Amino acid sequence: MNYRHVFHAGNFADVHKHIVLLALLERLKRKPKPLFYLDTHAGRGWYDLLSHDALRGNEWQDGVGRALRITRASPDLRRYLDAVSSPEEISAITTQRYPGSPVLAARDLRPGDRIVLVEKQIAEAQALEQATRGRRGVSVVCGDGYAALKTYLPPRENRGLVLIDPPYESENEFTQVEKALLLGLSRWPNGMFALWYPIKLGRETQRLHLSLQNSGLRKLLLVELSVRPADSPLGLNGSGLIIANPPWQFDEEIAPALREAHAALTDDGAGGVNVQWLVPE
Ligand SMILES: C[S@@+](CC[C@H](N)C(=O)[O-])C[C@H]1O[C@@H](n2cnc3c(N)ncnc32)[C@H](O)[C@@H]1O
Repeated sequence: MNYRHVFHAGNFADVHKHIVLLALLERLKRKPKPLFYLDTHAGRGWYDLLSHDALRGNEWQDGVGRALRITRASPDLRRYLDAVSSPEEISAITTQRYPGSPVLAARDLRPGDRIVLVEKQIAEAQALEQATRGRRGVSVVCGDGYAALKTYLPPRENRGLVLIDPPYESENEFTQVEKALLLGLSRWPNGMFALWYPIKLGRETQRLHLSLQNSGLRKLLLVELSVRPADSPLGLNGSGLIIANPPWQFDEEIAPALREAHAALTDDGAGGVNVQWLVPE
């Protein structure tokens, strides 16, 4: 596997995914009962945006770089902007490092909550270990995130979130994520799941949607943000999340934050935000 998230860290897809991640965790934290967070494809935790690799693609300039210029933000967007611009990340001059999903979640959760972070590549897992060292309740596992669904679900807390965010490097990753969601929900039917997928030219996204619509699953919400039309051949046109068992009224609540983010992430308003039920209750 060659994938290294540093090339993409902080890009528009990370902005989208991490706004939604923090919004979901915030809803879960509204109740005091402990919760469980599983990140099946966790990455290294922190990404150095001034590293050679990050600067090569410079994707973050059009992602978090643009987002940080937003001045007026609704609460779900503000939460994200604060999380990526706390003094830990930002020097006075420029964005230096970007927090991945494990760091965002680990910082966000409360004493008594439990976090399992799974990363397959040894070097990335070691970096993640470093990034989360000293945080109580956090375990880093170097292994296969899909297998972790069997190991860790259902969690004893019976409340929480599973993020499934693979690199889509292998041709069958769309099939694997679908199986993973089905497996996860069969083991933990009332768990909340967020499954990320790329929106590119091609039919994989529609196939995934259609297949899930025919799967018998209920309560699947689509939360997508695109910066180019779906038929653009340029590469990653949009970033998609399927949320299983979303919080009450999440569809209405998350849309304004994503529309504000979208306006900042594009010059010409191309693409857009799509929040709708793939399968309602
Ligand atoms: C898109 S990145 C994760 C980004 C991270 N979730 C975030 O939002 O900051 C995908 C990660 O999955 C890892 N990976 C690939 N296959 C895996 C597998 N089968 N199990 C666990 N991790 C895997 C890659 O090494 C990479 O670090």
